[in-house]
Amino acid sequence: MSLDLLLGLQWGDEGKGKVVDAITSNYDIIARFQGGPNAGHTIEFDGHKHVLHTIPSGIFNENSLNVIGNGVVIDPAVFLEEINGLKKFNIDLTKKLFISKRAHLILPTHKIIDATSEASKGKKKIGSTLKGIGPTYMDKTGRNGIRVGDIINNDWEKKYFKLKKKHLNIISNFQDKVKISINELESDFFKGVECLKTFDLIESENFLNQSIDDGKKVLAEGAQGSLLDIDFGTYPFVTSSNTTSAGACSGLGVPPNKIKNIRGIFKAYTTRVGSGPFPTELFDSIGKKIREIGNEYGATTGRDRRCGWLDLVALKYSIQINGVTELNIMKSDVLSIFDKILVCTSYVINGEEINFFPYDINSKEITPKYQEFRGWNTDITEIKNEDSLPNELIDYINFIESFVNVPIKLISVGPDRTQTIIRK
Ligand code: GDP
Ligand code: IMO
Ligand code: MG
Repeated sequence: MSLDLLLGLQWGDEGKGKVVDAITSNYDIIARFQGGPNAGHTIEFDGHKHVLHTIPSGIFNENSLNVIGNGVVIDPAVFLEEINGLKKFNIDLTKKLFISKRAHLILPTHKIIDATSEASKGKKKIGSTLKGIGPTYMDKTGRNGIRVGDIINNDWEKKYFKLKKKHLNIISNFQDKVKISINELESDFFKGVECLKTFDLIESENFLNQSIDDGKKVLAEGAQGSLLDIDFGTYPFVTSSNTTSAGACSGLGVPPNKIKNIRGIFKAYTTRVGSGPFPTELFDSIGKKIREIGNEYGATTGRDRRCGWLDLVALKYSIQINGVTELNIMKSDVLSIFDKILVCTSYVINGEEINFFPYDINSKEITPKYQEFRGWNTDITEIKNEDSLPNELIDYINFIESFVNVPIKLISVGPDRTQTIIRK
């Protein structure tokens, strides 16, 4: 009787989709609790590579059910595209996927506001995925939003056009206009709404709590990463939801005392897509090599991901905020070509060494202090058990574990479902 959480501990794209898919058979239900189609969760198995945006990563497992929770924001157009993309897998989707009536809808005009707002920021832009996330959460907290449950009510279109009118007003006040055709977006939106209506729209908080009480195992799948959290991330270069463990409670309606394990996912190095501070970013050939070997291009936008060494100051901070009970290290295979590997263990700011993640990280000049490790310089992608891993990688892992004082229980050595080593 429990809920486990799976969260990204860096700036997103840690490999959450891969791990959820790899461990899904341990769970009865997988539930997304925040974010929306700004997420891109990649899953690889049997020669397929598939990216999910709104649908939980448990969808490929025959036995598990999937829930899109109240904390998620749904773009019906993207949802329809996702459903169409899954057709070739012959999954009985309407039997396996339930959607919270309380989840908010991303309107076409939310996307236009997102694009216009970013354009008006010029060089200070957030680097948003432009999926309408920020404006939708703004309408949610501003108590103007439209929820999934609304679409089955008779007056729903009236509600839609009222909010659209308000949005068009906002858009007209921006100096920087963007050329986006609302008609096309709107037509896809309404097709998407019809598709949503074919699913069970439920009070997911009742379903999840009841399921847990009945002895079912639930996994909450996070999107983005802790350093993009609206409260604890590198504000304002963050997303608009709580990506951290508390977000799972509010985004699913499941109380904290039902949470058991909190699994934190991190890459053996660090990446970030979009703007904002990144103390260990590499601007040299090493950063470029990590991007090429790690295929570090956005799963949602295709943008180059910025790459750098592992930052243990930031990792420790994320572990603290989330109460992480176990760690999973991803993409160690990408570092296999390097003779030496650096890890940031503290920051130097104005000549002073600090070992915490500062509030005003944006404005400070940070020089990371690094500890150097010997590389393993060998292909690890075919290794199936911990005992066969090179000693240098084990040293690297042991160091991280002792630094943050949380066990690393899973080592991912490639993108495929099978390239996953569970530690004893
Ligand atoms: P998510 O958003 O956290 O689910 O991560 P993404 O799917 O955006 O990005 C992770 C990328 O790394 C995807 O292309 C995965 O297929 C890939 N990946 C995951 N784990 C590994 C790994 O251990 N090694 C390598 N080389 N690739 C991995
Ligand atoms: P997954 O779930 C990486 C980043 C954007 C931008 C900032 C705000 O795949 O890990 P938004 O669209 O939310 O307004 O963008 O957050 N971002 C992500 N970066 N992975 C993600 O999701 C992201 N979702 C948003 O690049 O910097
Ligand atoms: Mg991603």
